[in-house]
Amino acid sequence: MTEETRTVFWQDGQVCLIDQRRIPFEFEVARYDTVEGVADAIRTMVVRGAPAIGAAAAFGVALAARQSRAGSVEGLLDDLRSAREVLARSRPTAVNLFWALDRMMRLAEGSAWESADALRAALLAEAQRIADEDIAINRRIGQHGAELVPDGATIIHHCNTGSLATVGWGTALGIIRTAALLQGKRVHVLVDETRPRLQGARLTAWELLQAGIPHTIIADSASGHYMRRHGVDLCLVGADRIAANGDTANKIGTYNLAVVARENGVPFYVVAPYSTIDMTILHGDLIEIEERDADEVKVIQGQPIAPAGSPAGNPAFDVTPNHYITGIVTEYGVIRPPFSVNLARLAAEIRGQSG
Ligand code: MRU
Repeated sequence: MTEETRTVFWQDGQVCLIDQRRIPFEFEVARYDTVEGVADAIRTMVVRGAPAIGAAAAFGVALAARQSRAGSVEGLLDDLRSAREVLARSRPTAVNLFWALDRMMRLAEGSAWESADALRAALLAEAQRIADEDIAINRRIGQHGAELVPDGATIIHHCNTGSLATVGWGTALGIIRTAALLQGKRVHVLVDETRPRLQGARLTAWELLQAGIPHTIIADSASGHYMRRHGVDLCLVGADRIAANGDTANKIGTYNLAVVARENGVPFYVVAPYSTIDMTILHGDLIEIEERDADEVKVIQGQPIAPAGSPAGNPAFDVTPNHYITGIVTEYGVIRPPFSVNLARLAAEIRGQSG
């Protein structure tokens, strides 16, 4: 995977996704020509990571427009509304999915289109814009966040937030790339393996290895030990949904890491594009947490590791309360506590700029 490779792209009328279930052992691009196929790819984690899911959903709407046989604008809008529902049912927690769907539907429903084909073309262009903007935003996040990384830093990173979780470059991993590759800082990344789907061990390690960034894979439960015995400068994690008070839903295990970081005085930063902030959700307890198949815990790469008769719980995400978070890094800069005040201020500024 080079810097130019995109995780999500459109080619020859198909939505193309790097198949993340196969990495690090095989590199394959899965291609979809139905909206149901794209929704299934999101559900089964062919594509995963909040911004990548958002871009895939946007292209899914463009695909639905292409699939639709409707000759009238009204007929096409009806088909798009059904497609939106199919995609919205794929995964519940990452708000970028709903943000992208809403943006696509706002475009479709917000103008008087002269023909169905004009709307089809506009939807594809909008999905393309969402994908292009994602990379530009991640580059800006990287610049802001790299200021938090001292030369010689040891960083703990959870899950995967790299090129694979976005369209390209990455969010938390984008900061590490910027610091190491663009600014020449020496960094060492402790990569949480991230049970149960092992996004850290499989995907983050693969990306860091390709980028030539020094790293060590650690068991999720080893982070406290490394903080006490070896010294860790900061934790960088992504986000799937950030509530208006800064409470953050992210990959399961993020909360544990944040508590251990606080205990050891290690700064804990959440990194995400502004589109991950959901100002309609007042606090983290209101965020829906996806519960996935128990077999993801009991079976690794097809190999059972637990008694078949034992039940398992598999929440895909947890919520880190805002008081454990040192700062939230977005493309607009680093937001500090009090988050309720500072997120509301940023939202007002952005509304002011766009209105
Ligand atoms: O279940 P996943 O792999 O989609 O979960 C992904 C995460 O929790 C990421 O850390 C988050 O989406 C941020 S991605 C830039």
